[in-house]
This record gives sequence, C-alpha cells and structure tokens, in this order.
Amino acid sequence: MYTNLHLLVLFSATFASVYASSSPFEVTTLSAPDGSITAKFVPFGATLTELWVKDKKGGLRDVVPGYDNNSRLLTDPGHPVLNPIVGRYANRIKNGTFSIPITKYPQSNGPGVYHTPKNDHNNEVTLHGGIYGWDRRNWTTVDSSPTSVTFQHIDTADEGFPGTVTVRATHTVSNGGILHTSVHATATEKTPIMITQHIYWNLDAFQDGSNDILAHQLRMAASRVIEVDGDGIPTGKLLSVPGTNFDFRTQRPIGEAFKDPNFRGYDHPWIYDDNSESVAGTTLFSELSGIRLDISTNQPAVQVYTAHLGIPRKAVHGGPNVEYGERSTVAIEQEGWVDAINTPAWGVDQIYHPGRDFDWSTTYKFSVVQ
Ligand SMILES: *[C@@H]1O[C@H](CO)[C@@H](O)[C@H](O)[C@H]1NC(C)=O
Ligand SMILES: *[C@@H]1O[C@H](CO)[C@@H](O)[C@H](O)[C@H]1NC(C)=O
Ligand SMILES: *[C@@H]1O[C@H](CO)[C@@H](O)[C@H](O)[C@H]1NC(C)=O
Repeated sequence: MYTNLHLLVLFSATFASVYASSSPFEVTTLSAPDGSITAKFVPFGATLTELWVKDKKGGLRDVVPGYDNNSRLLTDPGHPVLNPIVGRYANRIKNGTFSIPITKYPQSNGPGVYHTPKNDHNNEVTLHGGIYGWDRRNWTTVDSSPTSVTFQHIDTADEGFPGTVTVRATHTVSNGGILHTSVHATATEKTPIMITQHIYWNLDAFQDGSNDILAHQLRMAASRVIEVDGDGIPTGKLLSVPGTNFDFRTQRPIGEAFKDPNFRGYDHPWIYDDNSESVAGTTLFSELSGIRLDISTNQPAVQVYTAHLGIPRKAVHGGPNVEYGERSTVAIEQEGWVDAINTPAWGVDQIYHPGRDFDWSTTYKFSVVQ
C-alpha cells in the first residue's frame, strides 16, 4: 500500500516537471555561488531575459534589454531579436539563395540551389534564419542545475534549409562574474550553419541619467571589417580599419563617429585578428557604472549593431512608459563570416554534415573598474 502510494507520488512529480518544462516562457534562474552574476533564461529561442552583475558601488544591475512579459518575444511585430540564439544561419544571405557546393551568387534554378524566406531590406535578403528562425522556436529544457541550463531544438528544415539540424545550447554562470554559452549542432544532410547569440548591452542599465551607449568604451582586436552594401550584404571586400570610424583596436567611446551628423550607425562585421578563444576579442566598458565586459569566443567575426529598439523598457529600466530609444543599446554578435556561403573566394567552409558537427562557444566575463 505504502509502496503504491509512493509510486503514485513519484509518477505525479515526474509528470508535473515534464509538463512545466514544456512551457516555452517558463523562466530558469541561474546564480553563481559567489553572488557575482544572476542570469534568467526562457526556452523560447534559448533566450537570455535578465542578466544581473555588480557595479562599482557593489549594487546589482540588469545589463540587457527585454520585455516584462516574455511572450512578447513571439508576438512583438518589430521582432528585435532580444538576446536569443540565432540560427540556422545568422545575419544575412544574399537574395535568400545559396547552393551546395557553394558558388558565387547561384542561378535560382541551378543544381543544389536552395531558397530561404526573404525577410529583410524590402524582402531582398534572408535575415537571422528566416521568418521563424531558431530565435522564435519553442526549444525544450533538457537539463538544468542551479548554475546551468541546456535547451534543445530540432529544426526540421521548415525555413528552406536542407536536412534536419538538432541543436543544444548550454548557458552556465560561475564565480567571478562569468557567463558562458556553448552551442552544439548536428546535421542529417549537408547544410550551412552559422549562428550567433544576439545580446544587446547597456552596462549602465539606464541608471544615473544614462539613456544610451554613446559614452560606452569599445575595444575590438580587429583590423579588418567586411565591406557591406546597402542591404547589409558583403561585397566580398575587406576594409582596413586604421584611420576610419571602424578602428576600435584601442578602446574608445562608441559615440565618437556619431558626432558626424551623416553617420548612420554601426551594423557591420569585423574580423578578429586572433582566432584564439583564450584571448578577449572584445571589451565593452562604462565608466558611469564601472562595469566592464570582456568577451572571448571561438568565432572568427563579430557584428556590432547600434540599435534603435523602439519598444517599451522593462520596469527595472524605467518602463513601460519610456522606450529603449535611439542607440540605447549595442548588440555584439560573435559569429562566422557573413554570407560566406555566397562568397567562395574567402575559402571559409560553413557546410556541416554527418561527421562534421558545428560548435560555437563564447565567454562573457564581468568585472568592475573603480
Ligand atoms: C503575458 O502576455 C500574455 C499574452 O498577452 C498573457 O496571456 C499573459 O497573462 C501575460 N503574462 C503576465 C505575467 O502578465
Ligand atoms: C533572386 O532569387 C530569385 C528566386 O528567389 C530569383 O528568381 C532571382 O533571379 C534572384 N535574383 C538575382 C539577382 O539573382
Ligand atoms: C509554442 O508554444 C506556444 C505557447 O505555449 C504555443 O502557443 C505554440 O503553439 C507552440 N508552437 C509550436 C510550433 O509548437
């Protein structure tokens, strides 16, 4: 009798936890034992919804924008891609067309040619994996602990890419203000894979009268930037940054270029000089909060986007009656060479298949500068 009741209780508990983890907007909170960092995630898009780190006065600040109601990740018509994992192919694909094996701008009906939905720049290009990319899918929680969570998504090729891709993203926090995200993907057929974690930052968290990131200091160990056309598509050329608005090899305020009223903002891919994951390729720092962020990655490139989100701020950022306005945040996206699948001249292989899995890894380390 006791045994049967015990089994019944066990069964209900198991059923309840499976049921709970099937809600795509259920929040998982991770905290490092030393209290230096707390991160919140939802399975939907494997998305980071809050990230609390210490400022120079010892207070905690949430340094990423978001929604008070996370179901807006699905329903916000502006679709600003707030802090999810982006795939199967991040950033832009020229004319929503590529071929396997890759060729330069394939004819639309040629052999091995694939088409993906055109959802950016007057529907001329594919952006962030199509209309329903990985960032707007119901991932499932497959593992979690107080400091780590793993989400899985099975992409059955419904945005026009070939083959099924199974992807797992693991987010882990640890002592010393560290967030690490790793992504592993396997494919059943030859397919392009290029992903990013699309996090927007504001290291002041809109406190002390700060409304934008223009005074944030940025450093990127990158002496080349990929030239892009008006659609954000690479021309194939690499530009040398010295003496231009793109030179962040030495830390300087993001806002300097904006003193020129004709400067439209950053939305460009830089190529890192050093591909070693043990080196911080990017540093973002705000003197106001004293918060410094060092980013190291196994990826070769970084897209920096000075965004105008135009959506209500979270309550913790002074919302909802105030918006995340012009240049209120900066997205810093660790990724591969943009549209390399249409640029064979670069010699970059972004085609994955059984026997060649895809791996992405990035560490975000927070510290304070007094
Ligand atoms: C979030 O929005 C959804 C859809 O409008 C609504 O059903 C839900 O109750 C809201 N959640 C909260 C916590 O307000
Ligand atoms: C763009 O792709 C479409 C098919 O989606 C094709 O009909 C068209 O020719 C392509 N345009 C160019 C410039 O390659
Ligand atoms: C994703 O989850 C939402 C909310 O629970 C649900 O309405 C929707 O049908 C799910 N989508 C898919 C494709 O399962």
